[in-house]
Amino acid sequence: MVRLIGYIQESGLGGRETMNKNLRSVFVAMAVGLGVAAAGMPAHAGADSPMKKWMKTEVQPAKASANWAKLQTLLGALGSKNPDAAAFPKWKQFADDGIAAAKKEDKEALNKSCTACHNAYKKQYKEKFPDGAAP
Ligand code: HEC
Repeated sequence: MVRLIGYIQESGLGGRETMNKNLRSVFVAMAVGLGVAAAGMPAHAGADSPMKKWMKTEVQPAKASANWAKLQTLLGALGSKNPDAAAFPKWKQFADDGIAAAKKEDKEALNKSCTACHNAYKKQYKEKFPDGAAP
């Protein structure tokens, strides 16, 4: 989409006579762009990635029910499965912070560890690993 907007901005300067031609080109660009987007889509398009599903069906309920023992197990597995140590240097640290919080049964500290990892890495993770495996 960014490419498309850039294209419109450039070609929009072309003046009236060239407008129709430019418009046609825009539609061609759009069609090509859509094709590329569709081709790049993971197989499960629309469904949650395995990682997201795991977070929602395992981690979230364990937190909601204050299942401290299970949280320690889950976060232990998560911490040891850093998918990209260079991109996510504090991955294990965030998980370990969560384990420490779960050991103390400290919900506030636990929440902080979830949010810390999400704020730091979630967006990038989704871009890099749209099919990211669950721990
Ligand atoms: C070490 C990093 C890390 C920690 C710690 C972590 N998460 Fe996540 N979490 C992720 C990533 C990465 C995703 C995005 C997965 C995806 O969309 O493919 C995610 C997604 C989620 C989602 C899916 C919904 C959303 O916001 O996208 C939930 C729910 C969730 N996490 C709950 C939790 C809870 C509760 C905790 C703390 C007990 C926690 N997570 C701790 C990395 C982490």
